[in-house]
Amino acid sequence: MTVCSAPGKVYLFGEHAVVYGEPAIPCAIEQRASVSVEPREDDHVRVTAEDLSLDGFTVEYAGDGEERPDVDVPANLVEAAMGYIDHAVEQARDAADAPDAGFDITVESEIPLGAGLGSSAAVVVAGIDAATRALGVELDRREIADRAYQAEYEVQDGEASRADTFCSAMGGAVRVEGDDCEPIDAPNLPFVVGFDGGAGDTGKLVAGVRELREEYDFAADTVETIGDVVREGEELLADAEPGSEPSPELLAELGELMDFDHGLLSALGVSARSLDSMVWGAREAGAHGAKLTGAGGGGCIVALDPADATETALSYTRECEEAFRAELATEGVRVEEA
Ligand code: PMV
Repeated sequence: MTVCSAPGKVYLFGEHAVVYGEPAIPCAIEQRASVSVEPREDDHVRVTAEDLSLDGFTVEYAGDGEERPDVDVPANLVEAAMGYIDHAVEQARDAADAPDAGFDITVESEIPLGAGLGSSAAVVVAGIDAATRALGVELDRREIADRAYQAEYEVQDGEASRADTFCSAMGGAVRVEGDDCEPIDAPNLPFVVGFDGGAGDTGKLVAGVRELREEYDFAADTVETIGDVVREGEELLADAEPGSEPSPELLAELGELMDFDHGLLSALGVSARSLDSMVWGAREAGAHGAKLTGAGGGGCIVALDPADATETALSYTRECEEAFRAELATEGVRVEEA
């Protein structure tokens, strides 16, 4: 059996604007998805997803991907999860030149689904790495990132940037601008995440921003301004010692930019009452800054606070179902069991 894991991510800055060619800075976090793969004698794929839903599910289908499982969890959740796994399997078969390879696959994830923490990217990245290794092929991280991006692109009908998949494959902080993706140095940022228990509809939210941007010049300017915030943030990170504990001054400056970014995202209509409530809960507890992360509409916020106050305050915020610290994951995809 081959087991690989890959991290989820938060956006320090730049979601949505990245879709229009502005830079973004996602950071990998220590919440990981793990995928176990065992090659089969036939060309079937059997998937057990331990934590993808409250109940989990097991399905087996023929290699042609025609049959769909009959399982007792919401159809859209199964569809989404199966879509990502299907495409990860296709990428692994292609990379290993083994079109008829079959697998038993088990997915376990600590990352809430569809909540802006890159759960699907982590599953696809870990899945491609584990499945290719199980077939005796080792891909480098950039190729895994690229293939995972192709898989997400297909499942999401072209509405995907390279941010999630590159960040999950490489780990640490990364800078993404169009097809240009690079790891960047970052201090050890003290992320705290608040999760409202829900999820936003990424496709719909991206479409909403696109419409606003086409209708109003000031919405297009707002997208560009998010790019300016990201460039300002990049300079701050470049001046800090990589892996160091960030100074209070640096946290204050980064936090101010996060607050600004959240305001711009709100103006573009992608925040939500629950997200705003958690953002304010974090700020009032003394976080250096707080913003939604990912597509928005529901899901998660990310705040900066080296102390416990923000996590505690969020855990008492009515709209927050779960609050947790998210360490910057310096390692991207990795082998857990060969
Ligand atoms: O919610 P997530 O983690 O899928 O992030 C979406 C980020 C967007 O910028 C809105 C879209 C994208 O693909 O970059």
